[in-house]
Amino acid sequence: MPGKPVLVQELDSVHPSESLAGRDLCSVADLTPGELHATLQLAHQVKREPAEFRWALDAKQMVMFFEKASLRTRLTFETAINTLGGAAVFVDQTQSPLGERESIADIARNVERWVQVIVLRTYAHDTITEMAQYASVPVINALSDLEHPCQAIADFMTLQERFGNLRGFNFTYVGDGNNVCHSLMLTAALLGAHCTVGTPRNYAPKADIVAQARAIANVTGSHVTLVNDPIAAVKDADAIYTDVCTSMGQEHEATKRAPIFKPYQVNEALMGHASPNAVFMHCLPAHRNAEVTDAVLDGPQSVVFDQAENRMHAQKALLLMLLGAGGKA
Ligand code: CP
Ligand code: NVA
Repeated sequence: MPGKPVLVQELDSVHPSESLAGRDLCSVADLTPGELHATLQLAHQVKREPAEFRWALDAKQMVMFFEKASLRTRLTFETAINTLGGAAVFVDQTQSPLGERESIADIARNVERWVQVIVLRTYAHDTITEMAQYASVPVINALSDLEHPCQAIADFMTLQERFGNLRGFNFTYVGDGNNVCHSLMLTAALLGAHCTVGTPRNYAPKADIVAQARAIANVTGSHVTLVNDPIAAVKDADAIYTDVCTSMGQEHEATKRAPIFKPYQVNEALMGHASPNAVFMHCLPAHRNAEVTDAVLDGPQSVVFDQAENRMHAQKALLLMLLGAGGKA
C-alpha cells in the first residue's frame, strides 16, 4: 500500500491554477493528471486552513439548476461558496427539465450576465455539455446520467488522506456500472491507481468510458479491469466502493434489478476477501441492506461520512480553480 505524501505531477505546460481558470468541468477527464493533482492539493489545503480562503470568492455568484433531488451536493456547494465569500442561488428544476421553457443556449446567454459559475444536476449529460458550449462562465457537472465528477474528486481526496499517494493503489467498485462508477474509473486512472470494476453482465460501465479510462491509465501506468465475479473484484482491494443499483430516473427497474445485484452486496463476507486494511466507500444515499449491509456501512472500515465531508472541501478547491482564485496550488 503506498504511503508517500501527495505530489503535484509536473505534466502540464501551463500551471494548473492558471490553466483551469474559466474552464468547465463536465467530466472529471476534462482535467489532466496535473490539474487533478493540483485541485486535490488545494482541497487538502482548504480543509486545513479554511480561514485563509474566507473571502477568496468575495461576492461571486453561483447558480445551481437541479433536475434531480440532492442532499450532499446541494448543501456542500452552498456551504462551499458561502464560506468563500460568495453566494448561491438554487433553482429547483425537478418539475420542469432544463430546456423545456426556453433553450439551453438562451438560458446560458442570460445567466452568464448575472453569475460567475453555473452548477447543473441533470438527467441528460448533453444538457451539461450544451450549457458549457454556450455559457461564457464555468459550468460544473453536479451529476448527470453519465458522470458524477465532483463526487469522485472528493472520494479520491478521502483516499489520499488515508493512504497518501495513490499510484499503484487497488481501487475496486462493485455494483452498477453507472455515473458514479464512470467518474471513479476515470479519476483512478488519472491518479495512476488500479481500478477493478465488478458488475453483473449487461450492467458494465459504458464501453467508451472504459476505453477512455484505459487510455489515461496507459499514460499514468495503471490498469482498468472489468470482471463479473464480485469476489474476484474485491481480491486484494485497498478500497471497496459501491452505489445504489437503481439510480435516479431508473426507479421503475428496481424490482427487476434487485435479484440481479444481490450477489454484489457489500457485506462482511465480501469485505473479508479484500485487504485487511481496506476501506469501504459509498457516495450516499445508501439503500441500507440492499447494496451494502448496515454492519459494513456503520462498521470500522467505512469512510462514507469522510467522503461526504470532503465534498465541501473538494468543491471549494474546484470553485477556486475554475474562478481563477486557486493561487499557486
Ligand atoms: N452523493 C451525492 O451526490 O448525494 P446527493 O444526491 O444527496 O447530492
Ligand atoms: N448513481 C446515483 C448516485 C446518487 C448520488 C444516482 O445517479 O442516482
